[in-house]
Amino acid sequence: MDVGGRAHGPLASDAKLEHESLTATPGDAPSATSKSMDALVIQGGRPLSGRVAVSGAKNSALPVMAATLLASGQHVLRNVPSLADTRTMARVLGQLGARIEFSDHVCRIDTTDVSSFEAPYDLVRTMRASIYVLGPLLARFGAARVSLPGGCAWGPRPVNLHFEGLDAMGARLEIEHGYIVGKDVRLRGAHVRHETVSVGATAQLMMAATLAEGTTVIEGAAIEPDITVLGEVLVRCGARIEGLGSRIITVHGVKSLSPIDTTIIPDRIEAATFLAAAAITGGSVTVDQCDPEHLRASIETLERAGCDVHAGEREVRISGPVRPAALSVTTEPYPGFPTDMQAQIMALCTIADGESVITDTIYLDRFTHVPELARLGAEIRLDHNVATVLGVDRLSGAPVMATDIRASAALVLAALVAEGETRISRIYHLDRGYEALDQKLVDLGASVRRVKE
Ligand code: UD1
Repeated sequence: MDVGGRAHGPLASDAKLEHESLTATPGDAPSATSKSMDALVIQGGRPLSGRVAVSGAKNSALPVMAATLLASGQHVLRNVPSLADTRTMARVLGQLGARIEFSDHVCRIDTTDVSSFEAPYDLVRTMRASIYVLGPLLARFGAARVSLPGGCAWGPRPVNLHFEGLDAMGARLEIEHGYIVGKDVRLRGAHVRHETVSVGATAQLMMAATLAEGTTVIEGAAIEPDITVLGEVLVRCGARIEGLGSRIITVHGVKSLSPIDTTIIPDRIEAATFLAAAAITGGSVTVDQCDPEHLRASIETLERAGCDVHAGEREVRISGPVRPAALSVTTEPYPGFPTDMQAQIMALCTIADGESVITDTIYLDRFTHVPELARLGAEIRLDHNVATVLGVDRLSGAPVMATDIRASAALVLAALVAEGETRISRIYHLDRGYEALDQKLVDLGASVRRVKE
């Protein structure tokens, strides 16, 4: 088995990705020729109005794409968002020998000829979720060589739960030259308990357990919709999984799975970001093609800020207040308020009437947006993982820098309401997680221009 890493160059892997050109390079090493050097120039002060359609969920598409490695054959994924991150996952799969066609939000992945088991540092460092291929590779091929992702802009973000869980399943993983390496692995069922709820580790172990010998129990499992849906997709392919949507997931290993044929669920974070954009501009927007059930915590928070919100079956209508009320918000695992909306809700609080307190219990260091919001006139005091935001009467436009996906979204929201012009550089972060955000905002009446830097 090839765990030593065959030298597929970038061209070799790109050649396997048909139809969609790879224009944006995610991560911190943008190529000068790509869209990654773009900036957004936003003129603030226009209330948003109209209807916007939500794309497929990034955080659901990524593990489902990785899960295609569990079964040989032709998989079909619909409603896959066209993002730098989904293209990176396609590259990772291409590197492993899968053939990918990505066109018009349909991703066809043929995993018949997967013959390499290496996810290289160059790709994994640009997107941590690349590590999702580890469990499926070990489960189906008994071998993997996957780069450790390294740190990220908002803290160490360990992967110990992935590592320890797979080890408990008999993987006997080693760290060699910055890579997690497993050789001649035969996974068997294990009882794994997570004290910290981890979306990624739950997905990783659930995928691995589908083809392990015997039964795996994951205690302290994540119940984010992305995880529950991943489990449901695998069940439709022949996996035996119980307890989806609860904190104890039980997986009885089966011999093989059939290929995936599924439609990716709507992106609840993108939907909530548009709701917050309507709220901060005092606009009226209908967020379409979303699942309101997945948005409960965000909707409830926006209502507390004074928004008028009506949830339908597949849409949410929102009207923003003249001035938002101050909030107290604490991020928690689903169904609590998502850490992926912490930065955007902080943007809203910068112009709220009074003092807001925002606590992130998931990522204690996820506050790179704070100094950038301050450049727009926000008054924020940071004490460890607690931000106290004193609402100001107005923000004023300035050049700012995007630092990660959601921090960038927060800057966009603040810019929509700031007086004058805000120029947001390094928006390749935004392109990792939001499909055509600038165009969708323009369609809602915002003044947003994408320019080359
Ligand atoms: C996923 C999401 C990310 C979101 C996060 C929390 C994807 C691709 N990304 O990231 O957008 O912000 O969930 O909702 O779905 N932890 C450990 N050890 C581990 C793994 C995690 O201690 O091995 C800790 C983390 O440091 C963090 C907490 O567990 O404090 C939750 O992290 P986790 O749910 O694993 O986040 P990701 O899956 O990386």
